[in-house]
Amino acid sequence: MSTNQHGYQDFQLGSFTFRRDEYFAHIGWTTKSGKPMSHTMDAGNYLRALMRDVAWGFFYGWVNFDNVIGTVNHYESVDLYAGSYNGTMKEAGIDLLENFPTAQIRATFEQMLDDWTNEGFDPFAAPLETGSPHGRKRGNNTAKITRARELAKRCVGLKDDLPLRTDERGAPVNRAFADVPQDQPELHPEPGFENEVHAFNLFGFLSRSQVTWNPSFTSVVKYSFMCPTTEEHILPIIHGNDRVEWFFQMTDEIHWDCGDKNTGKPLARVIMKAGDMAAMPAYCRHQGYSPKRSMLLVWENGSPTLVFEIQKGESPEVPVKF
Ligand code: PHB
Ligand code: FE
Repeated sequence: MSTNQHGYQDFQLGSFTFRRDEYFAHIGWTTKSGKPMSHTMDAGNYLRALMRDVAWGFFYGWVNFDNVIGTVNHYESVDLYAGSYNGTMKEAGIDLLENFPTAQIRATFEQMLDDWTNEGFDPFAAPLETGSPHGRKRGNNTAKITRARELAKRCVGLKDDLPLRTDERGAPVNRAFADVPQDQPELHPEPGFENEVHAFNLFGFLSRSQVTWNPSFTSVVKYSFMCPTTEEHILPIIHGNDRVEWFFQMTDEIHWDCGDKNTGKPLARVIMKAGDMAAMPAYCRHQGYSPKRSMLLVWENGSPTLVFEIQKGESPEVPVKF
């Protein structure tokens, strides 16, 4: 590792190189036939994607940073690729994919995220709510890039579980949700069932989210994970599913670009307005655009065996067949 003339450290993972300057992240690799390749991303877009990949432990399946580079989670190891899921680059033979133990790629990504994120830039914040990612190396923002993921064990607000968000806990209501009622439902459980019968104001909880495009777990029943999130601007990754996932647009609207998971070839535009539901099949990749901060419920099947059942053809890639 060394520091370049812009003040940033260079990084390496296998045969991939990473360097940042004032505006861009540059990724380098060598093709199988020995050609040197490079790819450039805006530093802000790169850091927003890197932030999600790190915070979500490489997520479910594919995390495309853009149409060229990204990662595939194999749950104990992770593939890092350039061009491997871009139909044109793959056909031209200029792609590269290498596999790393999860601990190794995580450690390098965490160091890169910390070194390349300047003070005042929060990769989880909406662009209107944070400073610029650009310029020479300028301090750090370690507290904002090491937020603990908010994962309920059973349900938000239960005893020994994820607490409700409040002003006192540093979670004020967002500017876009000033009209969201903040009262809580009345609970009247029979004696002995106080820790079993439960309810909370989900809209109130979401109105106090400090981040965007970062699903939390608000209820968990076996492998059924309710993962609501507040969205503003662009989902910083293009997610390639390894399972079906459901979206319920709870407020406002999100426009989705859906494409083929392996090639990126466009498949569909899905315009979701408040009250709409959609399911993303396991063969697609998708990226959402939220013109105004909105509330989205992502419903995940967290079964650790599901991805292998789909690979073996035992579970379907689609939620329903007509
Ligand atoms: C998704 O990839 O399905 C996804 C990820 C993060 C969000 C919303 C959707 O905030
Ligand atoms: Fe997804």
